[in-house]
Amino acid sequence: MAEVKSTLVCAVILLSSAVFALVEDLDDTFKDSRMDDVWLVDFYAPWCGYCKKLEPVWQEVGAELKGSGSPVRVGKIDATAFAGVASEFGVRGYPTIKLLKGELTYNYKGPRTKDDIIEFANRVAGPAVRSLPSKQMFDHVMRRHNILFVYVGRDSPLKEKYMEVASELIVYTYFFAASEDVLPKEVTIPELPAVVVFKDGAYFTYDEYQDSSLSSWINKERFLGYLQIDGFVLYELGETGKLVAMAVVDEKNLTEDSIRLKTLVQRVSTEYRDHFTRDIQFGHMDGNDYINGLIMGEVAVPSFIILNTSNEQYFLPSGPLETMDQLLSFINSVLDGTAQAQGGDSIFQRVRRLAYDAKSTVMSVFQTSPVLGCFLFGLPLGVISLMCYGICTAETDDGAEDLEPLKREGLTDEEDDDEGQRQPMELEGPGARARASRRRRSPSLTRKPINAGVRC
Ligand SMILES: *[C@@H]1O[C@H](CO)[C@@H](O)[C@H](O)[C@H]1NC(C)=O
Ligand SMILES: *[C@@H]1O[C@H](CO)[C@@H](O)[C@H](O)[C@H]1NC(C)=O
Repeated sequence: MAEVKSTLVCAVILLSSAVFALVEDLDDTFKDSRMDDVWLVDFYAPWCGYCKKLEPVWQEVGAELKGSGSPVRVGKIDATAFAGVASEFGVRGYPTIKLLKGELTYNYKGPRTKDDIIEFANRVAGPAVRSLPSKQMFDHVMRRHNILFVYVGRDSPLKEKYMEVASELIVYTYFFAASEDVLPKEVTIPELPAVVVFKDGAYFTYDEYQDSSLSSWINKERFLGYLQIDGFVLYELGETGKLVAMAVVDEKNLTEDSIRLKTLVQRVSTEYRDHFTRDIQFGHMDGNDYINGLIMGEVAVPSFIILNTSNEQYFLPSGPLETMDQLLSFINSVLDGTAQAQGGDSIFQRVRRLAYDAKSTVMSVFQTSPVLGCFLFGLPLGVISLMCYGICTAETDDGAEDLEPLKREGLTDEEDDDEGQRQPMELEGPGARARASRRRRSPSLTRKPINAGVRC
């Protein structure tokens, strides 16, 4: 019995060490030997919480890629211990996930789940442009992908351009090439060669004259016409340079108004595609927490908002949008510049963002741990108050001056003001989402910081 037990323990140890070996621990010799293989590397810091969260996922990624016979080798490197390697690869935050393929390096910015990471590795490790030699292959990929970029035609300068763009944008989507005879019969392309995108139950052709560069066209077309938008998606949409027009609804409690608004936005995205596709991305967002953090204010649910991710401005309609005409005229007023923009990236807005973020941080400390909050903020405030009291009673009897030093140091709540905008560049990662959702107002805590300090 004891023997069986110890064999079992041995087996478990062997097994777990085998699993562990599927992710290779790298050091600074790595950069010399890496060229022969495709590598998926996690640059981590030992103290970073998100890195610790990624660790078990990373082990699974290693196991699954190895198990599926993928040529991709999975590794991890302590970016603080091997800072030279990390800086050579331009690592600025932790964890950073990169796929290294010869001279090319690709950053992974998507959700840190096993399936997403593996999909990324398989896509990017393969050829930048995959050929579709038969009708069956075409139908197969058509069923699997809801957005499909296909180069149609023989070799040409356009194809070279396409390959070049694909080798960069493969981080986002797949690229295919096919000859005209493998396309479905109902697809007619006026002129070959062509780059075509199949999506939203239709297909659209790249137009060199109207669409500017191929890479910016692909960047704009790599999203469905109508999207469910969250922080990650919004961040990615920034690269398209389009305005983001969305319904803010509560998916768990879809009222009649919400459904009507969502349907209207959906209809505009398809019925007016040709009209708006170059300028606007449509979609909806579940819940208003994220948007509230973004605009440092509060939008109603449901509501409609248009964001300009390039300059951090946003537009809200003055009344409810209940008909197609109302929605269209609001969108047009934003496009022709007559709608009133709010927010922006001026110095004033940046200062407000700083104040807003500082306040949110203080509030989230109080919410998660009031005792710590009192200790961190109450103690210094108490000391300052006592000092002020001492100074003021020594020189004058006018207690009103007590407040002045606090005001100057920004410890009172003067900038409690609700408009403005969050910088889209900060949208990265689930941290921002968590931060945004933590942002709930708690006026009693911020209104009178001196009292809060004293109460503790
Ligand atoms: C759903 O939303 C309506 C309107 O905002 C509200 O009156 C109702 O209480 C909500 N129901 C639930 C289950 O949250
Ligand atoms: C969005 O911001 C960019 C960059 O500042 C600007 O050029 C563009 O006109 C803005 N779009 C709208 C509709 O305000």
